Amino acid sequence: MKRKLAAEIRTICWERGKVVFIDQRLLPDEERHVAVRDYREVVGAIRELAVRGAPAIGVAAALGIALGMKASRATDLAALDGEFAAICGAFAAARPTARNLFWAVERMQRRYRAAAPPEKEAGARRPAVAALKKREGFPAVRRRLQEALVAEAQAIWAEDMEINRSIGAHGADLLAAGDNVLTHCNAGALATAGYGTALGVIRAAWEQGKDIHVYVDETRPVLQGARLTAWELKREGVPATLITDSMAGFLMQRGKIQKIVVGADRIAANGDTANKIGTYSLAVLARAHRIPFYVAAPLSTFDVTLETGREIPIEERAPEEVTTCRGVVLAPRGIDVYNPAFDVTPGRYIAAFVTEKGLLRPPFRSALRPFLRS
Ligand code: MRU
Repeated sequence: MKRKLAAEIRTICWERGKVVFIDQRLLPDEERHVAVRDYREVVGAIRELAVRGAPAIGVAAALGIALGMKASRATDLAALDGEFAAICGAFAAARPTARNLFWAVERMQRRYRAAAPPEKEAGARRPAVAALKKREGFPAVRRRLQEALVAEAQAIWAEDMEINRSIGAHGADLLAAGDNVLTHCNAGALATAGYGTALGVIRAAWEQGKDIHVYVDETRPVLQGARLTAWELKREGVPATLITDSMAGFLMQRGKIQKIVVGADRIAANGDTANKIGTYSLAVLARAHRIPFYVAAPLSTFDVTLETGREIPIEERAPEEVTTCRGVVLAPRGIDVYNPAFDVTPGRYIAAFVTEKGLLRPPFRSALRPFLRS
């Protein structure tokens, strides 16, 4: 029997000229929605993981760029171009791994260029802007550009919702009643505009009435599994059990896991996939135990300009994420720490990608060809 889901989680959105997001650092203790007017606060939220998860970061960047440009009081196009470049640059520098961030920045840049093409690309269209400028004055031109960017950012937000529902619909068929599904990190509503990718697959199967059970990796060091995925699943009423990352192999050995579904931050042309640190270990374990390992991600996470996963930039984060936990010191002062936020799972360990266009099966390079240009 079909089930009704809990009320949608509003991870991030545009509300009356402000960007509003859940500060994910405070979950699960507190669900605080923060409204900001300054784009630099959105950049900070991405950097500090108040907004995290590849698609959510992309949506945040798009909304943040719109926010920054909306505040512009530039009096000519050269100044506006300069502000736009600086704002886009700030977002592109916020975090290095998730492809969706750069995808969103590039899409906003295309929208801006379409409305105000630079001299060398514009040909006959630039004079049109100049003419407009003379007739209406620059503030009207600027307003038009600002409105175009807000509309584009809102479209990116709305599309992300739709895409996740499609991912869920395609992926739900992979899960059967009685399955115990392992997931890592948080690829849920909180990691997207809503619904989620890996958790979108789980949500959709649950919504269809399938009795599944989820094992949630806590996901050291930032605990996105324990804090966020566990929170989402509890809220939804999906039966879930929290485990520490090091327990996953034992569960697989004992036959307690039938499927694994995770999200992705960037996927190279050969299917190599960067996702939260610890994903690679799970994929190797899954292969050893003949458990299908699925990656759910929108096409905007694929980066076919990269031949293999070796080229994916891997973010390294502050040592304090490892040596402390919510202010409690866990390790001796001065100990050397290595803290890569992501690892790369070779495509050969992945049974299929679940995308909004359907399942992609190996060989991934050719499976991807119809959907993506490099
Ligand atoms: O460092 P984070 O929390 O941004 O890492 C998030 C992940 O690794 C997710 O699994 C990934 O972005 C997919 S989210 C749909």
